[in-house]
Amino acid sequence: MVPATMVALLAVLLLILSSFLTPASGYTYRAEEEEDGRRSTSSSSSSHAHGSRAGMFMLGRSRRAFRTEAGEVRIVSGNRRWKGDQSSMHIAFVSMEPNSLLIPQYIDANLVLFVRRGEVEVGWIHKDELVEKKLKRGDVNVIPAGSSFYAVNANSERLQMVCCIDTSHSLSNNYHQSFFIGGGLNPTSVLAGFDIDTLTTAFNLTSEQLRPMMRRQSGGPIVHFSRDQQQQRDWKEEEELTTSPWTSIQNFLKSLLGKNDVMQESTSGSETYNLYNSEPRFKNDYGWSTAIDEHDYSALANCGIGVYLVNLNAGSMMAPHFNPIATEYGVVLSGSGRIQVVFPNGTAAMNAEVAEGDVFRIPRYYPVCQVASRDGPMEFFGFTTSAKRNHPQFLAGASSVLRSMMGRELAAAFGVSEEELRRAVEAQRESVILPASSNLEEEEVVERKEETVVEELLVMKRRGFFA
Ligand SMILES: *[C@@H]1O[C@H](CO)[C@@H](O)[C@H](O)[C@H]1NC(C)=O
Ligand SMILES: *[C@@H]1O[C@H](CO)[C@@H](O)[C@H](O)[C@H]1NC(C)=O
Repeated sequence: MVPATMVALLAVLLLILSSFLTPASGYTYRAEEEEDGRRSTSSSSSSHAHGSRAGMFMLGRSRRAFRTEAGEVRIVSGNRRWKGDQSSMHIAFVSMEPNSLLIPQYIDANLVLFVRRGEVEVGWIHKDELVEKKLKRGDVNVIPAGSSFYAVNANSERLQMVCCIDTSHSLSNNYHQSFFIGGGLNPTSVLAGFDIDTLTTAFNLTSEQLRPMMRRQSGGPIVHFSRDQQQQRDWKEEEELTTSPWTSIQNFLKSLLGKNDVMQESTSGSETYNLYNSEPRFKNDYGWSTAIDEHDYSALANCGIGVYLVNLNAGSMMAPHFNPIATEYGVVLSGSGRIQVVFPNGTAAMNAEVAEGDVFRIPRYYPVCQVASRDGPMEFFGFTTSAKRNHPQFLAGASSVLRSMMGRELAAAFGVSEEELRRAVEAQRESVILPASSNLEEEEVVERKEETVVEELLVMKRRGFFA
C-alpha cells in the first residue's frame, strides 16, 4: 500500500518536474539556437547539397565573443585556410544598445566598420591625434591595427555594425587580441599590468588618486554610457573643462598621447565612405552593385581591404564570374538566395541556399554565381582581401571573357562552329546582373538546380545525345 502510494506520488512528482523542466530547458536551448545560428538551417541544407565541402565556403555559425548588458559582439571566424589562400579575415557582428560605449582599446588587426543600423560616434587615433566621426547607416570606416579607438552609441536606436577583422598582421596570425586602454576589473586595462610605482610615476599621481581609476569598471567591453545633458556638445564646439566620464575618457586618451587637440575635420586618411550614398559602380534593371577600393577611400590602401555591396532583384543573378586578385568574404544582409562555387576541375564545390546573416567566403580565382530567390531581393556585402581596383572576370553575359574571346580558337575549344558559338554566347544581352530565366518553368528550375552542367552532359552522353 504504502510503497504503491509512494510510487504514485513519485510519478506525479516526476511528471510535474519534467513538465516544468523540459519546456524550460527546451525553450532556452531553442532560443540559444535561434540566436546562435540564425541560419543553421541553411548550413544544413547546404551541406546536404554538396556534402561537407560547403563548409569550405560557408563560414560556420557566429560565436559570441562577449555579451554585456549594453551590447554584444559575435564573430564568424574565417580561419579555415587551404593551399593558396592565406587570407584570414573574421566577420564581427557588433550590436550596441542605446547609450552605450565600447571601451577604448586597440587590436592587433585592421578593423573595417560598416554601419548596418543606427548611428555611432567613433573616436580613433590617426597620426597621433584623436579623430572623431559620426557614422550613419552605410558608412564604412577603417581603424588600422594598433590604433586606439572607442565607439559610442548616443542614439535611441540600437546600433548594428558588421566589421571585418583582418588578422594578417596579428600576433598569433589567426586570432586577434584586444588591448583595453580603459577598464578596471572587467575588462582589464593594459595599464593594470604595470606595477603601482611605475604607474604613480608615469601619471604623476598618488596611488590613492590612481586606484579608483583602475578598479571601478566591471561592466565588460560594452558599458552603459550617456553624456550628461550639459556635456552634450556640438561637434564643432570646443569641449568644456569638466570631468564627466566622457571628457575624462577624452582627456585620458589625450594624456596618453600627450596631445591636446581633438580633430573634428577630416584629414587625409581619416575620412569615411558611405556605401549607399555613392553612385553604384554598376546598375541595370535587375540590380546594382558597388565597390570601394583605395582610389575611393585611401584608408583602405593601408590595410589592403576592399568593400563591396550587391543588390539583386528577385530572381536575378550575379553572372558567373571569378575574382582574379582577391578572396571575397560576404555577408547576406537581407533576403535569401543561392550561391554556387566551382572547383578548378569544373565540378561543383558548393551549391548552397543562403539567407540573412550567412557568411561565405569565395577564394580567389574560384568561379562563383549568386542568385536571389524568386520571393524577393537579396542584398549582400562584404570585404575583399585587396584594396586594388577589382576587375571581376565574367564567364557569361554581354561583358564576359567568352564574348571577348569570341573567335575560331574558342569555337574549336568547345568543338562547335563559330556560328554556333556566336549564337550560344550572344543570346544573353545583359551583363553583370542578369534577369531571372524566362525559358524555364519554376518547377524545372527547382528540379535542375542541383545538377551541374557536367552532370547534365554526362546524362546526355549516357542517353546517346552525342552519338
Ligand atoms: C607632478 O604634479 C605636481 C603637482 O601636482 C607638479 O607640481 C609637478 O610639476 C608634476 N610633475 C610632473 C613631472 O609633471
Ligand atoms: C575536383 O576537385 C575537387 C577539389 O580539389 C575534388 O574534391 C574532386 O574530387 C575533383 N573531382 C573530379 C571529378 O576530379
